[in-house]
Amino acid sequence: MTTMPNIERTLLPGAAHVCLLRFDKADSSANTLDVATLEALQAHLNAIAADPSIHGLVITSAKPAIFIAGADLSLFQNPAPEMLESWLSLGQQVFTQLAELRIPTVAAIAGACVGGGYELALACDYRIATDERVTRIGLPETTLGIVPGWGGCTRLPRLVGVPTALEVILGGKAYPARRAKQLGLVDELSSRERLLKAALHALGEGPEGKRLEKSHPGLLQRPINKAMATAISGRTRTDLMRRTRGHYPALLRALEIITEGAGEGDPALSLAREREAVAELASGPVARNLFHVMMLEEGTRKWLRRESQGASPIREAAVIGAGVMGAGIAQWLSARGLRVTLCDLDTERVGAGMARIFKSYNDAVKHHRLTSMEARDGIDRISPAPGTVPLERKPFVIEAIVEKLEAKKALFADLDQRTSPEALFASNTSALSIRAMAAATNRPSRFVGLHFFNPVERMKLVELVLPDGVAPEVRKSALGLIATIGKLPVVVKDTPGFLVNRVLLPYLLEAARAYEGGMSAGALDEAMLDFGMPMGPLRLVDEVGLDVALEVARTLEAAFPGRFTIPPLLERMVEAGLLGRKAKAGFYTYQSGHEPVANAAAQALAPGSLAPGDATSARLRMLYRMLDEAARCLDENVVETPGAVDLALIFGTGFPPFRGGLLRYADSIGIGSIVEEMEILKIQPGEPLLARATQERSFYEDH
Ligand code: NAI
Repeated sequence: MTTMPNIERTLLPGAAHVCLLRFDKADSSANTLDVATLEALQAHLNAIAADPSIHGLVITSAKPAIFIAGADLSLFQNPAPEMLESWLSLGQQVFTQLAELRIPTVAAIAGACVGGGYELALACDYRIATDERVTRIGLPETTLGIVPGWGGCTRLPRLVGVPTALEVILGGKAYPARRAKQLGLVDELSSRERLLKAALHALGEGPEGKRLEKSHPGLLQRPINKAMATAISGRTRTDLMRRTRGHYPALLRALEIITEGAGEGDPALSLAREREAVAELASGPVARNLFHVMMLEEGTRKWLRRESQGASPIREAAVIGAGVMGAGIAQWLSARGLRVTLCDLDTERVGAGMARIFKSYNDAVKHHRLTSMEARDGIDRISPAPGTVPLERKPFVIEAIVEKLEAKKALFADLDQRTSPEALFASNTSALSIRAMAAATNRPSRFVGLHFFNPVERMKLVELVLPDGVAPEVRKSALGLIATIGKLPVVVKDTPGFLVNRVLLPYLLEAARAYEGGMSAGALDEAMLDFGMPMGPLRLVDEVGLDVALEVARTLEAAFPGRFTIPPLLERMVEAGLLGRKAKAGFYTYQSGHEPVANAAAQALAPGSLAPGDATSARLRMLYRMLDEAARCLDENVVETPGAVDLALIFGTGFPPFRGGLLRYADSIGIGSIVEEMEILKIQPGEPLLARATQERSFYEDH
């Protein structure tokens, strides 16, 4: 055995002429590609090339859940251009050396194989992956604002064709093994136990071995001509611009490199374009913001693992309320292995909730997030329960009924009698006091807020509300549950609207006021889509439900008089039954299979006649109202850090990640200029924002 830093080299037992390189980074649960590891790989490849007795090479990993997790991203933290250049060149050189070895090579993949890890696999002649949950394969670089720079943009189109390469690189997803096989990202699936045997078989070992051919790295296996490449490029570019409005330059660069290189014989040109693109993009604002968000997310996940260590697992739950949120929560918990009892007042409502759950599982199968077997198992774990059913054995109960404090208190007082005193209670309330609900029970220290976001299957965030006096083991259990179900927590104080709704509502109310003043729904929503929001504010109100939004606004207006004034239009729309998507009519009307259309019935309830309005001012007003409230929340310690505010708004509302979050965005503009603009727009900034402007103190300054 020869061990260089992080990689050991042996001859494979039972096949004397096949060499095995096993990645095993010291003191780490993950393999990443830093300079030392790349140099070690280079040294091993030199030794292998110099040894004529070796007939084949298998590359694998010693880590249980990771093949290679990609490049060492700490190199991107403060990338000095020369350092980045030399590191990119080193990676490309080593991978080219691997691709050009005279012997056939196999990547034997168990666990995450993403970014640089998959680019290494692409430089091999053959890829075998284990068909396990931990195995994920893909090139997520564009989600970090860069492009695959170690041959991904060059070798993938040569392997799977241009259209699939575009889907994989522009989508930035990490695919489950089975889907990766369908796409051609890997050649074969195997069990973990048989992985090395399968690799040997591919190398021609054994009586029925395959005798793998060397691939020809320069040739496109599914060639397309220049005209076709230009057509695909044009069409994809139009689609990208429509979806991202040009906010993600890495996508356009990747598209250029892939389509320009598609018809060329010599991959060296395309590799040079990759290096140039990464070096340029990595130091730009978009990549730096996306990197900042990734670090915030990773930091939170590490913290969650630490804080939830030793929590006793929760395996069963009761969800009370089978509406939009209750059904979403039940689906998510069941998909993550919990047995769930889903309760509502009667059979019809539970049935409607189950129908939502079926649809959600169907979509997950359609988009390859779950297999049909996993979906069936998930559905089987849910017991629909109309009326009152026994809940004595449930260790965890979460409610998602109407947003009325009295109704929630009455429900919990009743549940308190019908469940074990040990059970943990949670409310999914958007804005109401957790302490007030807890006080209606005999277990106030076993009561938390667990605020999911809509739609539950897409929004990663949960706000964990820990009122004063909550027991330490309850905090740990709640964090353990969040870790089990794979959500991203932000711990918030038990104050009205917590963090996200308190910051979001001023934005939504401002949009409703502008609509009342005569601006069209389309123009208002378009203004925020242009900014990078995934959905305009009025579409969002329709998704949330106008009744729910109105209740939240009432709670906030009562708590902070004058700041959450409710436009009369909202009340009128709720009275008229225009509740949003769930009623098929709100600011828009909804028909399945059709794009939403502006709702004339809503417009008729607005006093102002339709006027074009000034989209830029409207956008700034919406944003600055949000920012002002966020500054107050930070000042009142609703959350502890600016990073928590940014993370919560990105993963709870879809605030554009390429801007790094609301507070980072404000820092990039300068608080002083924002306050000046607010004065022009006649918005009175609150004390916390004013103080920052006068002291010239940015949000991230102390962090
Ligand atoms: P919804 O109106 O869709 O569903 C509420 C369900 O609760 C209905 O099916 C109703 O029959 C049932 N229900 C009412 N009283 C009940 C009782 N005593 N026992 C059993 N079932 C009962 O409402 P939605 O939108 O699902 O909201 C539920 C909760 O989640 C609210 O507290 C809301 O503020 C919160 N929330 C809502 C979000 C949204 O976007 N809609 C996002 C996050 C939280």
